[in-house]
Amino acid sequence: MGLQMLVLGLESSCDETAVALVRHDRQVLAQRIASQDEQHKPFGGVVPELAARAHAERLSPMVETVLAEAGVTLADVDAIAATAGPGLIGGVMVGLVTGKALAMAAAKPLIAVNHLEGHALSPRLADAALDFPYLLLLVSGGHCQLLAVEGVGAYRRLATTIDDAVGEAFDKSAKLIGLGFPGGPAVERAARQGDARRFRLPRPLLGADEPHFSFAGLKSAVLRSWAALDTQDAQAQADMAAAFQAAATDCLVDRTARAMALAEGPLVVAGGVASNAHIRSALAALAEAHGRRFVAPPPWLCTDNAAMIGWAGIERLQLGLVDTLDAPARARWPLDPGAEPVRGAGAKA
Ligand code: KG4
Ligand code: ZN
Repeated sequence: MGLQMLVLGLESSCDETAVALVRHDRQVLAQRIASQDEQHKPFGGVVPELAARAHAERLSPMVETVLAEAGVTLADVDAIAATAGPGLIGGVMVGLVTGKALAMAAAKPLIAVNHLEGHALSPRLADAALDFPYLLLLVSGGHCQLLAVEGVGAYRRLATTIDDAVGEAFDKSAKLIGLGFPGGPAVERAARQGDARRFRLPRPLLGADEPHFSFAGLKSAVLRSWAALDTQDAQAQADMAAAFQAAATDCLVDRTARAMALAEGPLVVAGGVASNAHIRSALAALAEAHGRRFVAPPPWLCTDNAAMIGWAGIERLQLGLVDTLDAPARARWPLDPGAEPVRGAGAKA
C-alpha cells in the first residue's frame, strides 16, 4: 500500500445521497451531498421508495463530479467504501451495488461500511489527536447510544434508547408543533427565540442507575402541552421548541454523566443531533466538569455525509479489513452484536 491512500466513499442509507474522496492524511479532496428534503417535505418524513429512486438517479453522476473535481480517476483510488447498512434497505442497496460495480470495474477492493461506524469514527477524521479509547455518544435519527470505542470494529455498547432515538424525538416534536421537516434544525432555529420555562416537560429516566435513554414520554408531553394551548402562534412554537430542546439536552447530559465511569478517554459526540449547538455546549461543560477532553466533529460531519464513510474505509483499509463482492446490504446492523437486549426496548436496540 502506497504512502498515499485514497478512498472513494458512498452514502445512501437515508435521505442524503453523498460521495466523497478522502485521503489517509485527513484531506477531503472533493465531496457532494444532495439532500432529498424537497422530495420528502410534502409527506412530512422520509418515503423509502422515493429515497431509493433519488439515490439511483443521482449517485453515479455525483461520483463523476467528485472524481473530476479532485482531478483523479478510479485508477488513482485505493478502495471503494460504500455504506452497507443499517438504514432504508432500498437506498442501501443502491449505494452498495454502485460501490460493487465501481470496485469490479476498476479492480479495487470494496469496503462495506457500517453507517454507524462511519459516525463513530468521524471524530477521528476531524481530530488527528483523538486516539482510542473514547466514550462516544452517538445521536442520530435512528440511534441513541453510548459506546466505549476501543478500536476500529471494537465497540462496547453501554446504553441505548428503550423507545425513540433522540433525533426521532426532535423530528416528531417538530411535526407536532408545525415546524415541519426536517425537524432537528427547525427546532434548534426556533428555540433561539423561545423561553424554555414556559412549558414544564418531563426528563424520562433522569437519575436512573443504568445510562439508558427514553424519549417517547417527552414527545407525548409535547403533544399534550401543545394541544392544551389556546394560541398556537410562532412564539408558542419557539417556546415549545426551547422547552423540548432543554429537556432532551438534560436527558442526554444526565445519561452521559452516568456512563462516564464505564469508559475511559475523551467524551466524544457524533451523529446528526451532535450538530446541535445547545447540546454540544452542554456536553462540553459536562466533560470539563469531569476533567475529560471533549471532541465534536464540525456540524457538516455530524449529519449524514460520505466523508465519514470514506474515512471509515481508510481506517479499515489500513488494517487490511476489506470485503468481498458478495457483502450483503443490511437493514439492521448493530455496532456491538453482543449487546444484551434492553427491557422495554423496541426494534431499535
Ligand atoms: O446522522 P443523521 O444525519 O442521519 C441518521 O443516521 O439518522 O441524523 C439525522 C437526525 C435527524 O433526526 C435530525 O432531525 C437530527 O439528526 N438533527 C438535529 C439537528 N440537525 C439534524 N437534531 C437537533 N438539532 C440539529 N441542529
Ligand atoms: Zn447517520
